[in-house]
Amino acid sequence: MPTRCALRCVWPFKLQIFITGIRGQLGTALAKRWSAAHVSGCDLPECDISQLQPTIDAVLAARPQVVIHCAAWTDVDGCARDPLRAYQINAIGTQHVALAARAVGARLILLSSNEVFDGVQPAPYSELDAPCPANPYGWSKLAAEWTAQHIVDDCCVVRSSWLFGHGGRNFVHRILELARSAAPLRVVTDEIGAPTAVEDLADAIFSLIESRAHGIFHLVNAGFASRYELARAVLDLAGHSATVIEPTLLASYPRASTPPRNGCLRNSAAAAIGIQLRPWQDALPEFIGSLQPAGSAAR
Ligand SMILES: NC(=O)c1ccc[n+]([C@@H]2O[C@H](COP(=O)([O-])OP(=O)(O)OC[C@H]3O[C@@H](n4cnc5c(N)ncnc54)[C@H](OP(=O)(O)O)[C@@H]3O)[C@@H](O)[C@H]2O)c1
Repeated sequence: MPTRCALRCVWPFKLQIFITGIRGQLGTALAKRWSAAHVSGCDLPECDISQLQPTIDAVLAARPQVVIHCAAWTDVDGCARDPLRAYQINAIGTQHVALAARAVGARLILLSSNEVFDGVQPAPYSELDAPCPANPYGWSKLAAEWTAQHIVDDCCVVRSSWLFGHGGRNFVHRILELARSAAPLRVVTDEIGAPTAVEDLADAIFSLIESRAHGIFHLVNAGFASRYELARAVLDLAGHSATVIEPTLLASYPRASTPPRNGCLRNSAAAAIGIQLRPWQDALPEFIGSLQPAGSAAR
């Protein structure tokens, strides 16, 4: 967990924060970091960021000092089937949010993704590696990064990966649904990434705000896993150890999008300013535990 100095940690709580996508996984976790008087935000259906005027109106009404832009179309395969819609929401939507942030003089924190890299490089990607997306979602997020940084001088781009948390759908939920339905489970062994708890990411973003740093930051939980290894860990923690997972390869698992084989990010810039995230293996049991009804913890 990022360490916080008692003296330094007071002022970020006093900032006015505006979160787009406030009811999504990360938005939900971030909103809890501030008191109700200091946080507001927008989401569908009341504010569609692909429309300029409602976005500007929502941000102007809140007059925040920091805008944390989480809203996005995160269905990677959906984006591959409809790249124009992906671009309209993720890239043009970010342009609207950035213009709104600039209009009120707010700092902008944009959430981006490991999918700005094609995953061909054999080692984890650092902030200095050149992006080169392999699918329309990745391109839309890269366009978002460029537009945000061009419009707002005080801008942080935060790239993360494989999020799990409450308030949205994710790989962990999907694996548990399949296990409960007794459907056959086939999971790929050759897609590697860093599973990341939204609670830990929210803490790290808080520390980033506290640091006043700007630029590009990779923020993922420590350690990497294949989709297969993550699925196995989820099932074991949730009491489904007997459930069999058939290992498979990306090549025999057709998808609309091309996922990066190597989705691993290295948090070099964050480490340089003292922000560290714990291993995903420590974060996952907490999340799985929070999904179990009280008194029925998996053995
Ligand atoms: N999920 C991941 O594994 C992952 C990995 C790396 C980076 N990221 C990035 O991290 C950020 C947060 O991800 P997340 O997992 O918290 O996403 P999420 O749970 O899907 O939340 C995104 C929120 O944005 C909303 N939204 C979608 N289209 C919108 C629009 N046109 N106008 C306004 N709001 C809209 C969604 O509403 P609906 O639910 O109604 O569509 C949802 O509430 C995103 O920018 C994402 O690209 C995510």
